Amino acid sequence: MQKGCAALWIAAAAIGLAGCGKVTPEGAAAPSALAASSPSAAAGTAAPSAAPPAVPSPAVTPVASAEPTAKPAAAPPAASPSPAAKAEELYRGSCIGCHAAELKGGFGPNLQQVGSRKTKDQIIRQIEQGGGDMPGFGGKLSKEQIDILASWLSQQK
Ligand code: HEC
Repeated sequence: MQKGCAALWIAAAAIGLAGCGKVTPEGAAAPSALAASSPSAAAGTAAPSAAPPAVPSPAVTPVASAEPTAKPAAAPPAASPSPAAKAEELYRGSCIGCHAAELKGGFGPNLQQVGSRKTKDQIIRQIEQGGGDMPGFGGKLSKEQIDILASWLSQQK
């Protein structure tokens, strides 16, 4: 009996079959200890994955991209002074004393709708020769300056 049982015991230990009693409980206890250690290993790996979320960089990039677009947009208006800007400068220099700011009129009449009352040629004549109580500017302003003023004023309607 003993020899046969020993042979069975070895075979049971190797294959895991239930043979001579105590073999199975001891073998089953070992895997459960390994399984208990694995959850703690999983908890260790979870911690590093939670740490990385440091992502404030996307919020910084829109601010940097807004600056380059603002510079080219501001450049063109300063490069080419429009005829209206030239006319307004001449108006400030020679006409604003009587016709007031924004063409509102004062000693001279309101010019905000002068373009619907007078043609450009009539306005040129008015500026060159004056009329009524308005002095002529033919000797003070060049033909080109008068033309700039007259075309600007003829658009005031
Ligand atoms: C000394 C004051 C004075 C100055 C400076 C003056 N004006 Fe006049 N302007 C007048 C008066 C007054 C009249 C009205 C003339 C009239 O009664 O016919 C007038 C009339 C005009 C009219 C005709 C308005 C209309 O409704 O028919 C135009 C256009 C005009 N001025 C343009 C100019 C421009 C452009 C300048 C600058 C280059 C200028 N004036 C400078 C006094 C002035």
